[in-house]
Amino acid sequence: MSSPKRKSQTSSENGDEVAKKPRIAKDDSADELAVEIPITASNGAPDSHINAQAAIAYWSSTEATVSGVLGGFPQVSRIDLQGSSNFLAKLRRQSKHFPASKKLRRAVDGGAGIGRITAGFLSKVAETVDIVEPVKSFTDQIKGKENVGEVYNVGLEAWHPEKDGLGPYDLIWNQWCLGQLTDAHLVEYLKRLPPVLSEGGWIVVKENLSNHHLDQDVYDETDSSVTRTDGKFRKLFEEADLKLVSTELQKGFPKGLYPVRAYALQPR
Ligand SMILES: C[S@@+](CC[C@H](N)C(=O)[O-])C[C@H]1O[C@@H](n2cnc3c(N)ncnc32)[C@H](O)[C@@H]1O
Repeated sequence: MSSPKRKSQTSSENGDEVAKKPRIAKDDSADELAVEIPITASNGAPDSHINAQAAIAYWSSTEATVSGVLGGFPQVSRIDLQGSSNFLAKLRRQSKHFPASKKLRRAVDGGAGIGRITAGFLSKVAETVDIVEPVKSFTDQIKGKENVGEVYNVGLEAWHPEKDGLGPYDLIWNQWCLGQLTDAHLVEYLKRLPPVLSEGGWIVVKENLSNHHLDQDVYDETDSSVTRTDGKFRKLFEEADLKLVSTELQKGFPKGLYPVRAYALQPR
């Protein structure tokens, strides 16, 4: 899933029990094997299995709670938000455009779910946060909340901020949702962002990383998403003509979950 999820490993760096296949948890009780689709010539790359309709059907039937959007791991939310806040604070310390003393003017929460990140982090650092999220039952939880601006009920692959958005945006935050996009859609989406990014602003991607033993992306049929490797993310950022200005692994998550990495990007 594109939310926190148990990792798949054939070797373990910290002596954890080893799982042969990606293990997912839809809720606290679920503990089932997901389908792992390796890259072969006959069945195509993992992202070729992404089915946007199936993904929306899955998320539309998911309860609109922190536990729902975090795949049954609500306990990671607090530490995740703290990690994100620290990551941005470090970026701002290096920035001549966005000193920490002043709120950002406008940010956007891509694939926002119920607005967990907006409520717990972005709305505290930005005057206005726009929301892009395809599932209406999720955005119904966000509308009217403090500092929430425009709400776009579309997938990121269909969001064209240069004509729909109210940019420029000082910060474009994308977390636990980019696995819903194919590689090609992700690159196209990222390429649309620089024209609506303020000078010195950041595009942040914070996602699970595949640690497949053959260094492959992994398709997950639960929410019809892919979990990408670190190498794949860096390749796609290059293709989108974005430069990586900072990156950091999220610390403090329970053992056994996929590693989560934040990347801060700017136009080349
Ligand atoms: C794991 S939840 C994460 C929500 C939020 N980013 C958070 O961290 O709390 C994944 C979200 O991606 C959304 N999503 C599904 N397909 C999407 C798409 N094509 N573009 C953007 N978001 C999508 C889902 O509806 C869901 O809200």
